[in-house]
Amino acid sequence: MNRMKLILGDCISAINGMKDDSIHGVCTDPPYGLVEFSPDEVAKLRMGKGGVWRLPPKWEGCERRPLPRFSILTQEQRQEIQAYFVQWARVLLPKLRPGGHVLMAGNPVLQMYVQNAMVEGGFENRGTVLRCYHGFRGGDRPKNAEREFPDVCVTPRGNYEPWMLFRKPIAEHTVAANLRKWGTGGLRMLAGGKPLPDVIPSFKTPNCEREIADHPSLKPQHFLRIVVRSLLPLGQGVILDPFMGSGSTIAAALAVGYEGIGIEMDKTFYSLAQKSVLPLSLLYPRLTGDSLDYADANGSAEEFHEQLLLLDPPAKYSM
Ligand SMILES: C[S@@+](CC[C@H](N)C(=O)[O-])C[C@H]1O[C@@H](n2cnc3c(N)ncnc32)[C@H](O)[C@@H]1O
Repeated sequence: MNRMKLILGDCISAINGMKDDSIHGVCTDPPYGLVEFSPDEVAKLRMGKGGVWRLPPKWEGCERRPLPRFSILTQEQRQEIQAYFVQWARVLLPKLRPGGHVLMAGNPVLQMYVQNAMVEGGFENRGTVLRCYHGFRGGDRPKNAEREFPDVCVTPRGNYEPWMLFRKPIAEHTVAANLRKWGTGGLRMLAGGKPLPDVIPSFKTPNCEREIADHPSLKPQHFLRIVVRSLLPLGQGVILDPFMGSGSTIAAALAVGYEGIGIEMDKTFYSLAQKSVLPLSLLYPRLTGDSLDYADANGSAEEFHEQLLLLDPPAKYSM
């Protein structure tokens, strides 16, 4: 298998060592708050106590997975996130082909810092793709005063994950000329000439994927294959994931016929990626990311239909 390369190390130094204009697209799920995947915090996560990782209570008999707690980030830490991604963007920019896209998982509260940083680092902001699914975040009542304020919630209940889209400016006069010279500048449509929508119904990562790759932030193949496929407008090239975790993005790249390079700094997650990429890529052979159809994706059909209802509410609910 020579269609993928997995690198153990810090992504900024690894990207620095790459050839200019050698990457066609980037799809990544960075640590939202940077601190949650620092060696100290990962050690606390693995011990199951303390730090920014909160272990949610069991819910209806189901063991829930640890979630990072972004609300405790200080203003200074938020500025550090922005400063980090300015540096990251500046290192990445020359390695990406002109017109190459970058898609990054975000968090509704923190995405503005990453978007500002990417623009400061030389990228164009091209909007956001929403991965819709029922999460557990948000909707909390005022702490210790739930009975006093029974009709108040502090934040909206989260039903989406924002994936921020950026583009390196094209180097030619038109997108067409850029596509001809560099093979980048646009997005690949879904089958039947349908443009990639900016709202994609999804569901939590299926257990059969978690059994292969037990990473706390594992993303589902159904969603990843759709977005990764869309990043290479002419259907060929190299996808980079600088924060690959268990390598689910690289698996998606292989599944749709692209080459992938993944970088991971944590040795345990890197070994997990080495073991997981191929089996993840071989799941659901008919799922090639060219439609939103979830058939074969192993998600729950019920959940998927709930998402569709959210996107297309029955007439009685519309304004
Ligand atoms: C949110 S997780 C990505 C999980 C991935 N979406 C998956 O499905 O497995 C982010 C990953 O980035 C890694 N990471 C954090 N900082 C890094 C750095 N500077 N260079 C490379 N990897 C880094 C973390 O160890 C973590 O595994």
